Amino acid sequence: MLHYTKEDLGLLNSRYRANMINSCTGYKSCNLLATQSAHGTSNLAVFNSVVHIGSNPAMLGFVLRPLTVRRDTYNNFKETGHFTVNQVNAPMIKGAHATAAKYDEGVSEFSKSGFTEAYLDGFAAPYVKESHIKIGCSYKNEYKIAENGCLLIIGAIEHIYLEDGMVHQDGWVQLDATDTVSAVGVDAYALPKIVDRFSYPRPDEAPKSIL
Ligand SMILES: Cc1cc2nc3c(=O)[nH]c(=O)nc-3n(C[C@H](O)[C@H](O)[C@H](O)COP(=O)(O)O)c2cc1C
Repeated sequence: MLHYTKEDLGLLNSRYRANMINSCTGYKSCNLLATQSAHGTSNLAVFNSVVHIGSNPAMLGFVLRPLTVRRDTYNNFKETGHFTVNQVNAPMIKGAHATAAKYDEGVSEFSKSGFTEAYLDGFAAPYVKESHIKIGCSYKNEYKIAENGCLLIIGAIEHIYLEDGMVHQDGWVQLDATDTVSAVGVDAYALPKIVDRFSYPRPDEAPKSIL
């Protein structure tokens, strides 16, 4: 088995180290964050750090790289107060990856990546029409991670749009029913498959399949 100590990691080539650290902690969520500037220019970028923060009130979070360069997603939701989180499904991966390229401020990644802007129910940020799960959020808060200058952004969930046929009777969303992909590091995309789903865990009780 390969073994790296903290000191070994420090000596690695930075790209090699980033690839290893980005990928070894597991499959990540993969979403497109869409926003609009106060001047009406839309913006789209792929993020692999969206996480569940809480369900009552419904909130999600994501990690934003340090504000040492222009960050359009950040600037836009700070201006308008809104952003959307849009699921990446298998046919979308090439276009989703392309949104990570740095375009000039006035250029919309929607046009560069071939995705369609959808404006739903008067929300101040566009959704991605091609996504089967679309979440509209309002910006709530940000927390600076002192160790590296990244920001944990907190959004309140205002709207959820789900394609027909993916929500079970108890509200659970079957992501593989609609080819939802997962990101591995920042350049690979996987198609996870649900293996099983279990009853609520109780001491000394064997988990029962509920799929
Ligand atoms: C698969 C993948 C995942 C990414 N995840 C994040 C992320 O979680 N946080 C982040 O700040 N940037 C992430 N990026 C980089 C952004 O997509 C990239 O910096 C983008 O240009 C940001 O766009 P913006 O300046 O329009 O906000 C990721 C890139 C890729 C390819």
